[in-house]
Amino acid sequence: MSDVAAFRPVSRSRTTMAEMMIPAYANFGGKIHGGIILGLMDKVAYACASKHAGCYCVTVSVDGVDFKAPVEVGELVALRASVNYVGRTSMVVGIHVDAERVTTGEIRHTNTSYFTMVAKDADGRPAEVPGLELETKDDVRRFLEAITRRALRARYLDELDNSRPALTVAAELPRLATERCRLAEGLAP
Ligand SMILES: CC(C)(COP(=O)(O)OP(=O)(O)OC[C@H]1O[C@@H](n2cnc3c(N)ncnc32)[C@H](O)[C@@H]1OP(=O)(O)O)[C@@H](O)C(=O)NCCC(=O)NCCS
Repeated sequence: MSDVAAFRPVSRSRTTMAEMMIPAYANFGGKIHGGIILGLMDKVAYACASKHAGCYCVTVSVDGVDFKAPVEVGELVALRASVNYVGRTSMVVGIHVDAERVTTGEIRHTNTSYFTMVAKDADGRPAEVPGLELETKDDVRRFLEAITRRALRARYLDELDNSRPALTVAAELPRLATERCRLAEGLAP
C-alpha cells in the first residue's frame, strides 16, 4: 500500500459483479450450489478489499451466510460489495446478493454477508490499510454495525472458551433429553 496515512472513501472501492447461473452450476436438486454463490462472494470481496488496500488481500472469516431463497438456473446473480469497516490491517466487506429472473425482471434478495479480509505485504505479513472515509449516513450505520458485530463475536468466542472447561459430559446429559438424538448402546450411563 502506497500511503498508509491516507483515508480512502467507501465509493472508491465499491464493487459490483454479475454472473449468469448456467446449468453446470446446479446441484442434484436442480438449484444453484451454495458453493458457487460463496465463490462469487469471495471474488467480489477480494476485488473490493484489494481496491481499498491497494495490495493483495486474503479472506480470514465469513459472517452471516444465510441463504434466504434458492437461486435458480437461468437467473442473473448480482453482487454489490463495499468496505464497511477497517481496522489496522483488516477490513470487513459487506456483500448484498440479488438474483434476477431475467425473463421477467423479478429480483429477489438472497443474502447479505460479511467477509473479513486482511491485507498482506510482499513478505506475506499483515499490512496496514488506509482509513475509511464515510460518505453517507448508510456508510456510518454500516461502520457502527460492524463494530457491534465484532464486539458480539469476541464476547461469543470468549463465552464459548470459558464454557468448555466447565462442561462435564456426564452432568450435562439431561440436556439431550429434549433433543433429536439418542445414545448408542454402551454410551448410556
Ligand atoms: C489472517 C492472518 C493474516 C492473521 O495473521 P496473524 O499473524 O494472526 O495477524 P494478526 O494477529 O496481526 O491479525 C491481523 C488482522 O487479522 C484480524 N483477524 C485475525 N484472525 C481473525 C479472525 N478469525 N476473524 C476476524 N479477524 C481476524 C486481526 O484482528 C487483525 O486485524 P487488525 O489488524 O485490523 O486489528 C493469518 O492467519 C492468515 O494468513 N490466514 C490465512 C488466510 C488465507 O490464506 N485465506 C485464504 C484461505 S484459502
